[in-house]
Amino acid sequence: MTVQKLSRAARIILVGAPGVGKGTQTERLMKKFPELSSISSGDLLRKNVRERTPLGIQAESKMKAGALVPDSMILRLIVNELSTLGWIRDSTLRPYAVYSSSFAEGDMTVDSVSIPSSIKTAKYTYSDHPDASFILDGFPRTANQAVQLNDIVPINMVVSIDTPAEIIIDRICNRWVHAPSGRVYNTTFNPPKVEGKDDITGEPLTRRADDDPEVWKQRLKSFKENNEPLLEHYDRAGLLLTVSGKSSDEITPQIFNEFGKRFGVPVPEVIGGL
Ligand code: AP5
Ligand code: MG
Repeated sequence: MTVQKLSRAARIILVGAPGVGKGTQTERLMKKFPELSSISSGDLLRKNVRERTPLGIQAESKMKAGALVPDSMILRLIVNELSTLGWIRDSTLRPYAVYSSSFAEGDMTVDSVSIPSSIKTAKYTYSDHPDASFILDGFPRTANQAVQLNDIVPINMVVSIDTPAEIIIDRICNRWVHAPSGRVYNTTFNPPKVEGKDDITGEPLTRRADDDPEVWKQRLKSFKENNEPLLEHYDRAGLLLTVSGKSSDEITPQIFNEFGKRFGVPVPEVIGGL
């Protein structure tokens, strides 16, 4: 695979049912376009659960039940991450410890707060340099989250991945993850080189707590409830690309093609015989 450079900052969102392949497509996009980085809302939440932060402890029961965590919680987490990575900057120069994702002991319960006023009043700036390109995997997933994000940093492409649910459920039962990095494997589709071990670090792979067929059905239900208003929001803004297919291998070339057209530096054609 030839890698391609970006001509401007891409700020892209991947939307789709649980297990549709958002993480898989993110990894592929980052290999093809190395200037891209990613944030997965699910991975960030799972990190907080593993580290037993107050936010993680609150999120855990929602995640295990297949429900969404509150908008305020996920927004704080994402804004903190975007700031830490330097992709947005609060131009009022408020120290971003205010939004720390690993909330200190005694921090007020996140359920009880609405969007933190520090986020509401802050004015964010962002760069259009290709280095400031990112993929958000799994955020926003409600129209409200999308509106809040738009006030912080405007997204310039939204990819909705559409695969029939009966195909997805089989994958979930075979998924293994490298929890620290979020790398995903599947015992039939993309098995690790050594069974049970991450290809890059050799560390053990684990199963996700919410990869149980009953929980997956709940996750699908909450996805269906929220997805239509979310897609309508982005369709109205003229940002939506829907890609359909039964496998990631059908979907990847469609995303690469459209993404490359919008953000890639054109690759010079090789002239035959030269
Ligand atoms: P999150 O971690 O985002 O889970 P999800 O949306 O349910 O999506 P998944 O990560 O399960 O699937 P994926 O689309 O990334 O698929 P993957 O590439 O792994 O969120 C978890 C929870 O956190 C939520 O339920 C919620 O509680 C909370 N949360 C997160 N964001 C939130 C937000 N914004 N607001 C509120 N709450 C939030 O692929 C799946 C499997 O299939 C893998 O094993 C892969 O190898 C395999 N695979 C991929 N393609 C193929 C193929 N073509 N053929 C066979 N197998 C394939
Ligand atoms: Mg994922």
